[in-house]
Amino acid sequence: MDGWLAEIAAANALPDLDEVERKLLGKTGTVTELVKGVAALPREQRPEAGRSANQTKVAVQAAVDARREELESAALAADLGATDFDPTSPGLEAAPGSSAARDVRQPVKLPTGTLHPITIVRDELIDLFTSMGFSWQDGPEIESDWFNFEALNIPGDHPARDSQDTFWLDDGNLLRTHTSPVQIRTMKRFAPPLKVIVPGRCFRQESVDASHEHTFYQMEGLVVDKGVSTANLIHTMKTCLREILRRDVEVRLRPGFFPFVEPGFELDVNCPFCGGDGCSVCKHSGWIEILPCGMVHPNVLRAGGIDPEEYTGFAFGMGLQRVVMLRYGIDDIRLFMGGDLRFLRQFGEIAR
Ligand code: PHE
Repeated sequence: MDGWLAEIAAANALPDLDEVERKLLGKTGTVTELVKGVAALPREQRPEAGRSANQTKVAVQAAVDARREELESAALAADLGATDFDPTSPGLEAAPGSSAARDVRQPVKLPTGTLHPITIVRDELIDLFTSMGFSWQDGPEIESDWFNFEALNIPGDHPARDSQDTFWLDDGNLLRTHTSPVQIRTMKRFAPPLKVIVPGRCFRQESVDASHEHTFYQMEGLVVDKGVSTANLIHTMKTCLREILRRDVEVRLRPGFFPFVEPGFELDVNCPFCGGDGCSVCKHSGWIEILPCGMVHPNVLRAGGIDPEEYTGFAFGMGLQRVVMLRYGIDDIRLFMGGDLRFLRQFGEIAR
């Protein structure tokens, strides 16, 4: 029996082991014959010889099984270590039109994520404005009172502070309520002429409903140069809205009040849904309020270190969610932060 066990241990590949197994345990194998031989022995020897023959058979079979397991896991390990085996590559599945008779296989399509609609529109706007000669500035989400309010011509007791319900931090700083503080940061950092956009996240202590979010995205624009006028503002806004809304647009300015611009405006665009004829979206006025803007207040230029006698500028503050809602016809701002994949998947290719 030791010889048999040695033979099993010496089998170094599965086909060799199969051969040894057949030789020992097959129909006419040596061990099988040994068990069969018991029947031919004299009656009194049979129980003892039978027991021993069976023990041998069981032991040999166990040795074969154990060796098979060893060889199989060695083969698997070798496969996994082979350079061309990629355990992350997708498996195969039945292709459309495949049947039992005609089995066609294709790689399983793995699900991929999509860009958030705000990211999609923000990136498009960045492309658009950079093509118009703007550069892109960033600023901190945690701001000081000075950058967020004071420097923007909103002193401590100014009623305009009430309209921007602020998340104050324990150290006296705040979560920026708009991207306008980056106007000041940009003016302090660079000399005019300036032409920048500032996409970014802002925060206000608002109760959330279909048109208000405590966390939202704005894109600030700032242009400062000699002789910049309201005509430049209107032209820039018209060009950009035509690109965003992908159609010819009419715009109109209404007076609007913001302490950091003078004059300040609310800019309306003719309703993208009815073209100006009047519908429920524009409340039958034919116009939709799209963004606040205005000529930079002299005090703001001064706070940024720029001489208002020499330079003028315009600024605008676009609500990114609002633009996305108009573009895609979305009627509830809460969907953007809601994390519902059924909503998000509509904005990009998804494999499955
Ligand atoms: N910062 C203003 C707001 O968030 C918007 C604005 C920006 C208005 C620039 C005029 C000019 O309310």
